[in-house]
Amino acid sequence: MIFTPYQIGSRTLKNRLVAVPVFTGYALPNGQVSEFLIEHYSSLAAGGVAMVVVANAAVSADGVSSRHNLRADSDEFIPGLARLAKAIRRNGALASLQLNHAGRFARTDRPLLPTALESSHLAFNIASLKEFMNFFPLERRFGLTQGFLQHLIAWNRPMTEQDKQRVIGDFGEAASRACEAGFDMVELHGATGYLLAQFLSAFTHKPEPAGFNQRTAFPLQVIREVRKRVPDGFPIGFRILLREWVPGGIDLPEAIAFAKLLEREGVNYLSPSAGTYNSMFLPEVRKRMSRPGYLVDDTAALTAEVSTPAIVSGRILTPSIARRALQRRAAPLIGLGRVLRTDPEWVRKAREGKKVTVCVNCNGCLKRVVLDRGFHCERWPTWVRERVDLEQRLLTRDMFRGLWVVANGEDGRLFKGAMARMIPARHGISTSILFLATEEKGAAIDETRDEVVRWSDRMWRGRGFKGGALNHLTRRVDPPLDDALCREVDKGGYGAVMVGRNPTEPWRERFLYKQKGKVVGLVGQDPRWSEVLIPVDLSVSTLLVLRLLSHSLLRNPDFHTDFVHVLQGSAADAMRRWEDFVKILGWDKHFELRLLPSGRDVAEILLHEIRARRYGTIVMGKRGLSRIKRMLLGSVSAAVLHGLTDQTLVLID
Ligand SMILES: Cc1cc2nc3c(=O)[nH]c(=O)nc-3n(C[C@H](O)[C@H](O)[C@H](O)COP(=O)(O)O)c2cc1C
Ligand code: SF4
Repeated sequence: MIFTPYQIGSRTLKNRLVAVPVFTGYALPNGQVSEFLIEHYSSLAAGGVAMVVVANAAVSADGVSSRHNLRADSDEFIPGLARLAKAIRRNGALASLQLNHAGRFARTDRPLLPTALESSHLAFNIASLKEFMNFFPLERRFGLTQGFLQHLIAWNRPMTEQDKQRVIGDFGEAASRACEAGFDMVELHGATGYLLAQFLSAFTHKPEPAGFNQRTAFPLQVIREVRKRVPDGFPIGFRILLREWVPGGIDLPEAIAFAKLLEREGVNYLSPSAGTYNSMFLPEVRKRMSRPGYLVDDTAALTAEVSTPAIVSGRILTPSIARRALQRRAAPLIGLGRVLRTDPEWVRKAREGKKVTVCVNCNGCLKRVVLDRGFHCERWPTWVRERVDLEQRLLTRDMFRGLWVVANGEDGRLFKGAMARMIPARHGISTSILFLATEEKGAAIDETRDEVVRWSDRMWRGRGFKGGALNHLTRRVDPPLDDALCREVDKGGYGAVMVGRNPTEPWRERFLYKQKGKVVGLVGQDPRWSEVLIPVDLSVSTLLVLRLLSHSLLRNPDFHTDFVHVLQGSAADAMRRWEDFVKILGWDKHFELRLLPSGRDVAEILLHEIRARRYGTIVMGKRGLSRIKRMLLGSVSAAVLHGLTDQTLVLID
């Protein structure tokens, strides 16, 4: 039965298995879809489920729940969402987008609340907050407690009628964007304690006069608005909270009564869930939610009362639990949350009768997303978890937003060749050339600028950078230039900055060491620029270096690249770690790692190598060593920098 098709509205599911939403925290900090998010959902789809529900896309700017929350609150998100929907569909699954407003759990100074919180509510929240904090390492508790208390007490104004109408409209617009982006359906998030659940719950919503109808009015208006904004026959799902497990909160009879209203509104599927941020960390709730198939009985009760198809989820650990739930008609569809993330091969194994790797309910993944660190499963191999850490670090960087700094005529001449060869030909790339004009060099820089603008425009067109942008900016600045440049870089949010090498102007090197979390290059005149040395200390920092280069220099046939490692331990350990790196980076091409015998001064060994083999470009991590080692030994990259003559040095932090 697991592998028989099923119909939701106009869409056919090829089997009964649905990847229910599990928040990843893999979106870019501005809410756009990242490559990693696409990769994640594509692989869920490729695993064989019939439908993938993309978790938690915010419908309003004040409804975003975390730092890497996907967003659907403006048309600018449509192209990214379209790529995501296409990738899921290309991998054989239907795509549903979960739409959410986080309400009082949103990251904003003025969270939206159905009604003001009462003191009894506050007492319960603080008690549950204590349980929640016990879950986290001591050093993280203070920051988290502060954040949560701020949510609870800093702002306690109920939503006005105007707020409500605006958010209802936001849901409608986001649904219309999902449809335009090519999703097969949308799912409204009415669980986990977010805004729609807050309206339904008598614990968080105390309307005057009190009553079930008053509490259901807002979610029903949202559904009607969404229905108006999508084409006829476009399915709408609802993540419904069956039990809230807080005093006076939603319980099963009320949830079923609400489900009947949803049925009347023509909702096409229901996806039951239980527990909210207020309750899910309480010991008794954790115990209930640890039971395999903990929602099967309640979902069966729901299915007995409403005809809208349900997705039963909640620790459906094994194919046999899934089969039993289908046989007893608890629901026609099976929802796999963490279960599918723990074992991405779950569906294939179910088909072949093989044993699956089960989710052990350690909640390590939940802790990670609460701490904004991106979903990973504790049962994944170490290298896969390291890959998530790496990708997570990359999400906060915009490496394809580059800045070239021209402070005199020599920089202009130097960059003429360097720019053309160092900018990867990539769609969407943005490069700015910044002319720094000081009192002293004002007129001279104007002349240089005219020339650089001419050749750079020509170069840009000649290389066929479609969809990218080339900008020219001029700033009148006062010395020290390193400080002025740092301000410009911060303001512009650049991820990679190149300055010309000139030992007579120390502000250039000073700038290099003032930048954090960026790629910074000191471009020299060495004609052997295409001979590149990449020293690899096999730390997480070099992993970052290699990952960034995978998108640029390593793909460029104009460069010849060598990797070297100065041995600190055994050669066998180093080679094993290198193999891990190759797996984490997903390289299909083999790059050899040359091992250099250890010595006291790593920088001196590297400089010897650079001179002996006449490398023209060196790319390295800015801080491979631990902070303590750096204090004792000094930074290797700084020592290399001072030993170079005319080579280009690119540092990645
Ligand atoms: C880390 C984490 C993130 C989750 N994110 C969402 C979410 O964004 N939307 C949602 O409706 N449910 C979310 N859930 C709930 C899951 O969809 C699912 O209902 C729950 O984990 C139980 O199913 P499982 O045992 O198969 O994971 C999340 C659960 C976890 C552990
Ligand atoms: S981290 Fe733990 S709870 Fe989360 S999916 Fe993996 S095994 Fe399950």
